[in-house]
Amino acid sequence: MSALFARPSLPAAARAAVRAPRVLARAFGGSSTSQKALPFSLRGARESTAQADGGVLRMLMFGKPGAGKGTLSGRLVKKYDIVSLSTGDLLRQHIAERTEVGRMAEEIVATGGLIPDDIMLKILTSRLDLLHNKHWILDGFPRTLGQGKLLDDHLRQRGTPLSLVVNIDVADEIILSRISDRWVHLPSGRVYNLSYNPPKVAGLDDETGEPLTKRPDDNPEIFARRLEKFYASTSPLLSYYAEQAGNGTSLVTLKGATSDEIWPQLENVLNTSFPTLKERADQKRKGSLSEAVMARAEGDSAELVR
Ligand code: AP5
Ligand code: MG
Repeated sequence: MSALFARPSLPAAARAAVRAPRVLARAFGGSSTSQKALPFSLRGARESTAQADGGVLRMLMFGKPGAGKGTLSGRLVKKYDIVSLSTGDLLRQHIAERTEVGRMAEEIVATGGLIPDDIMLKILTSRLDLLHNKHWILDGFPRTLGQGKLLDDHLRQRGTPLSLVVNIDVADEIILSRISDRWVHLPSGRVYNLSYNPPKVAGLDDETGEPLTKRPDDNPEIFARRLEKFYASTSPLLSYYAEQAGNGTSLVTLKGATSDEIWPQLENVLNTSFPTLKERADQKRKGSLSEAVMARAEGDSAELVR
């Protein structure tokens, strides 16, 4: 791996997991979750996902900036035995640690642009390839048709194609009203909103007590640019995935203005299409996201080694 793609620092045991990736592979048993009836629009997802290769969830969380991708991924990771990778979080970690990728990406991210496809693929796959048979979610990747095709090629070569694309469809005016209230915990990617899900103590992360920060790209002018980029470069991926439906990757669109509307729909899709997905025994143990993924991998390898 070139210096450009060196990862930001990992916890020691996560580095051990990287050295012994096969230890992470695990078989999933039956689910304790109930089989609920699916709305008609989701039946296609149930029929064509999951069955081809033992029901491993390999999912894209797709949507506009501010649609709630990070929030919903965080909830899934907290409740279920799933790991999540957010390319935005990975880039923010690189930027915070002043790595070569971080120095290259800083201005592009701050001005709402997109990092080149080939660089993004390497940043992502350097983490994704460690996950093997785990259930996983990608948040923020792919973001262009080029990235979508690169990802498909990469996954097909490894025999692990995507199983599900979930499109979170929220109106622009709702999103714009959310962004000014968003605060994030940079090391974990945990997301807070002063009106929707405020931290227990103002300005501090619930789990670590560390300070929350504002993202530099969360101001009205840059946000408008990110939304434009979404319509110009990212939204064409929806037709691309709609065309893939016959090849085993399902596309499901979930609409809503609030979490109360979207979260139960999302759980319903996952529980019915991926019956091997297990709830975590200790659901307070982890939030999301990228570094937490590695910490989680570390925990799993420790469990299996014992
Ligand atoms: P990234 O970090 O991925 O940003 P994004 O896609 O613009 O998405 P956001 O993180 O802003 O929104 P989200 O959907 O996660 O919403 P959230 O859950 O926070 O990428 C940042 C930058 O990195 C890009 O602009 C680009 O420069 C670069 N980049 C990243 N990936 C790249 C790639 N693949 N290729 C090239 N460049 C790349 O929710 C938003 C707010 O709403 C929060 O305050 C939340 O609390 C609140 N909220 C969420 N859900 C609800 C709800 N249901 N009801 C009420 N409020 C809610
Ligand atoms: Mg996000």
